[in-house]
Amino acid sequence: MGYKIAIVGATGNVGREMLDILAERGFPAAEVVPLASRRSQGTEVSFGDKTLKVQALENYDFSDTDICLMSAGGSVAKEWAPKIGAQGCVVIDNSSAWRYDADVPLIVPEVNADAVAGFSKKNIIANPNCSTAQLVVALKPLHDAATIKRVVISTYQSVSGAGKEAMEELFNQTRAIFVNDPVENQKFTKRIAFNVIPHIDVFMEDGYTKEEWKVLAETKKILDPKIKVTCTAVRVPVFISHSESVNIEFEKPISADEARDILREAPGCLVIDKREDGGYITPHETAGEDATYISRIREDATVENGLNIWVVADNLRKGAALNAVQIAEVLVNRGLIKPKKQAA
Ligand SMILES: NC(=O)c1ccc[n+]([C@@H]2O[C@H](COP(=O)([O-])OP(=O)(O)OC[C@H]3O[C@@H](n4cnc5c(N)ncnc54)[C@H](OP(=O)(O)O)[C@@H]3O)[C@@H](O)[C@H]2O)c1
Repeated sequence: MGYKIAIVGATGNVGREMLDILAERGFPAAEVVPLASRRSQGTEVSFGDKTLKVQALENYDFSDTDICLMSAGGSVAKEWAPKIGAQGCVVIDNSSAWRYDADVPLIVPEVNADAVAGFSKKNIIANPNCSTAQLVVALKPLHDAATIKRVVISTYQSVSGAGKEAMEELFNQTRAIFVNDPVENQKFTKRIAFNVIPHIDVFMEDGYTKEEWKVLAETKKILDPKIKVTCTAVRVPVFISHSESVNIEFEKPISADEARDILREAPGCLVIDKREDGGYITPHETAGEDATYISRIREDATVENGLNIWVVADNLRKGAALNAVQIAEVLVNRGLIKPKKQAA
């Protein structure tokens, strides 16, 4: 039994990672079809030991496709997800276009897999923002143990979160600085090489950026609407993996040792927390890995029942492609969809 899977955005950072992860995890796919814009028609992408030719999204008929993993940005998702869903193909979208729609489940399988059941209203399931995905994986077991009241997050987000052109900009600027060439900013508003930029996505009226707002809204939708969340999102000159400094206030007491033991057992979490030189995780080490890594677990004595933790994950994997494939696995493993070809 196999499913027909389409990947929209297959030439992008997240799309390529989706192809790798489907192959690595042995997803029960009878056929995988890579799609992108007309610009990429005919180019080749790898899927396991196969090479697949990219087709143009606008020419593709979804009527016999079971699942569409989509990572082509918000405007493509706004236009195409409802059309694809109406053809009976379940869309799992990586953009922010559908995340806040009451009829669209927003899923991190380790946290709220049961909420996937509502997908059939629109045949669309949303994948959260990369910073939210890793955050809620770490917060969920702590919330279950001691009830989180408030969270303060500072992110250190890699350039791959802004797409393949942003990665090229960091590379080109770094090289230009070494060889004394002029440095050009295109994707970023200020120089990103050897710098950090406290601005991701557009500014909102209250002074927060849209990226920060997404972390607030999505954490509430996925984990618990009662949790108070505030965030500062910062772009850093790292290619892959986002890091987060997270300060948490709980209703009930929880010690650093208790939190460490809980996180060691929690799904998707990997604790690396020795209080010595190098006894913690850095983004460089998590690129290509699936886990959400947690280090620097310690009590915050400035508040009642407070903890600080350091959370790092590969934003292209847990923050995007892996989470989307895990959602597809939930659909398949719980028998929520059946392959159309077999059903016919
Ligand atoms: N990077 C992350 O950490 C991350 C995390 C969570 C969510 N996301 C979201 O995932 C999406 C993709 O991110 P990315 O980093 O993979 O971007 P990317 O590397 O820039 O890739 C964009 C992909 O979208 C395709 N595309 C663009 N316009 C299209 C159109 N009109 N029709 C069909 N395909 C089109 C591109 O195809 P061409 O090559 O033909 O242009 C390319 O395959 C975005 O919505 C992003 O917000 C990214």
